[in-house]
Amino acid sequence: MQILRTSEELARARGELRGSVALVPTMGALHEGHMSLVAEARKRAGNVVASLFVNPAQFGQGEDFGRYPRRGEQDAQMLADAGCDCLWAPSVDDIYPDGFSTTVSVAAVSRRWEGAARPGHFDGVATVVAKLLLSVRPDVALFGEKDFQQLAVIRRMVGDLNIPVEIVGAPTVREDDGLAMSSRNAYLSPDERERAVALPRALTAARGAILGGTAVEDALADARSELASAGFSRLDYFALVDAATLEPIDRPDGDMRLIAAAVIGTTRLIDNIAV
Ligand code: PAJ
Repeated sequence: MQILRTSEELARARGELRGSVALVPTMGALHEGHMSLVAEARKRAGNVVASLFVNPAQFGQGEDFGRYPRRGEQDAQMLADAGCDCLWAPSVDDIYPDGFSTTVSVAAVSRRWEGAARPGHFDGVATVVAKLLLSVRPDVALFGEKDFQQLAVIRRMVGDLNIPVEIVGAPTVREDDGLAMSSRNAYLSPDERERAVALPRALTAARGAILGGTAVEDALADARSELASAGFSRLDYFALVDAATLEPIDRPDGDMRLIAAAVIGTTRLIDNIAV
């Protein structure tokens, strides 16, 4: 696997790739969720490029940019073992050199939920993903449904700007007890880790209730109180939304998603499931 540190090295290596290219963007601290994207990428293209960049622009003030887990060497080994062809791991100065002035902002689908809880977050995501896509020029790029709103924002951006890439969403990979894998799970104490499973359980219970005919409002209220009893100190949202627009819905209709974000200890977790 080639390891590329700068945009120039990436451009040179990209020029030498023959055949189709798949891109898997990541912020590192890789786990089986990321590796499932690499495996899917290998099925879809002759060459797999992964990027590893902890993007300061998508972290708010007081968020975890400084303590976000950084395990570059271990990540590179995992990617090489998985058959990744190139790892692009640029520096902050390489992505955002002096004078960098452009922001990509995707309205509507960014507005609620993560966008409301983390102002500026999706501008940071959209801007860096646009730069990654334009730098690597992949045929296909893979993203996890774990970050469901992020996937919707990226699809919208790529559609709006005619960026010539196919966006593929991959299912959420979970631990045996149902907790969605996340680099941030490393922040959980053993006790918080045990209690965190209430989040996927509340989503599954709410889905069962809604499909069983319980009023949406009542199913959501039950889920919110379950999370409070499990020891989540803050619930940013727990909502039933239209899977395409991310707008909230109050009765079952069409393609739906249950989405949630909640804080346990000092860790903010997000999760979602199809309904
Ligand atoms: P990161 O959190 O590292 O995630 C990289 C990719 O892995 C994303 O597409 C994410 O949805 C996916 N992923 C994370 N956990 C997953 C799981 N349990 N199952 C399946 N896929 C999972 O998301 C980002 O980085 C950044 O915002 C990025 C897109 C790289 C832009 O900076």
